[in-house]
Amino acid sequence: MKDILTAPWMVEMIRTATNMYAHGWDERNGGNISLLLDEADVAEYLDLNNVLRTIPTGFEAPALEGKYFLVTGTGKYFKNVQYAPEVNLGLVRLTDNGMKAELLWGYEDGGKFTSEFPAHMMSHVARLTVDPANRVVMHCHPANLLAMTYVHTLDERAFTRTLWQMCTECIVVFPDGVNVLPWMLCGTNEIGAATAEKMETARLVIWAQHGIYGAGKDLDETFGLIETAEKAAEIYMKIAHLPRVNTITDEQMHLLEQRFGVKGRDGYLD
Ligand code: 13P
Ligand code: ZN
Repeated sequence: MKDILTAPWMVEMIRTATNMYAHGWDERNGGNISLLLDEADVAEYLDLNNVLRTIPTGFEAPALEGKYFLVTGTGKYFKNVQYAPEVNLGLVRLTDNGMKAELLWGYEDGGKFTSEFPAHMMSHVARLTVDPANRVVMHCHPANLLAMTYVHTLDERAFTRTLWQMCTECIVVFPDGVNVLPWMLCGTNEIGAATAEKMETARLVIWAQHGIYGAGKDLDETFGLIETAEKAAEIYMKIAHLPRVNTITDEQMHLLEQRFGVKGRDGYLD
C-alpha cells in the first residue's frame, strides 16, 4: 500500500487549501472543499474494507452511493491543513443512499466533515448531471465578492453582467455566469438544496453576505474560477463609487464569444 500523503490528489488538495488561505479567502475555519475520487485511486493507498468510523450525513443522496470524497473537516483551519492533513481532512465513502459516510482515513482527532456537507454533496449531484467530469466543489469567503453583495443588486443577470464587465476574460472563464442566493442559514439541508438547484445552471453560486461556491473538473480549475470572479469583484469595489466613463460593451462581449468559442448565458447579453 502506498503512502496516502504522496497521492497526487492529496498533494493537490493540501496545496489548494494552503493557497486559498494565502489568498485571504478562508479566515479561521472559513471555507470547505470536497474532491470526488475514483475507487481505483483510493485503493492504491487504503484498504477499502477498513472502515474507521461511520458518520450519519442527515440527508439522502442516492446518486452518490459508494462514491469516495476527500473533504475538509468542520471547524478546521485551512492554514493548518498542510501541517496536519490527517486531522484537518478526511476521506469518506457514502453508503445507505448517502445517509452514512464511512470514514476510511483522516479526522484523526475524532472530527468530521464540514458542516456544509449537504451543500457540497447535493452540488456534486447537480453538477454531475450536467457535467459528468465534475470532481470538485469549493466554498470560501473572498472579501470583494462578499462586499459586492452588500452594495449591488442580487439579480443574477445584473450581477453576472457587472462581473463580466470588470475584466475582459470573465465571460470566457464563466460564460454561464454566477447564480445568487439571498442570505440563508448556512450548514443546513435547505441551503444545500437551494445551492444544488443553482448549480444546475452555473458553476458559481454566491451566498449573499457569506461567500461563494465553485464547481469544476479539478482543484486548479475551480480555484481559477473563483479567483477570476473575485478579481472582477475587486475591480468593481474599486470603481463602484466613481463615475463610469468606459466599459466593455455587449458588442465587445460578442467578439469575445466568437474569438474564444464560448456562449454567454442565454439572454444575458443584448
Ligand atoms: P466548516 O468549518 O464546518 O467547514 O464551516 C466553515 C464555513 O465556511 C461555513 O459556511
Ligand atoms: Zn462559509
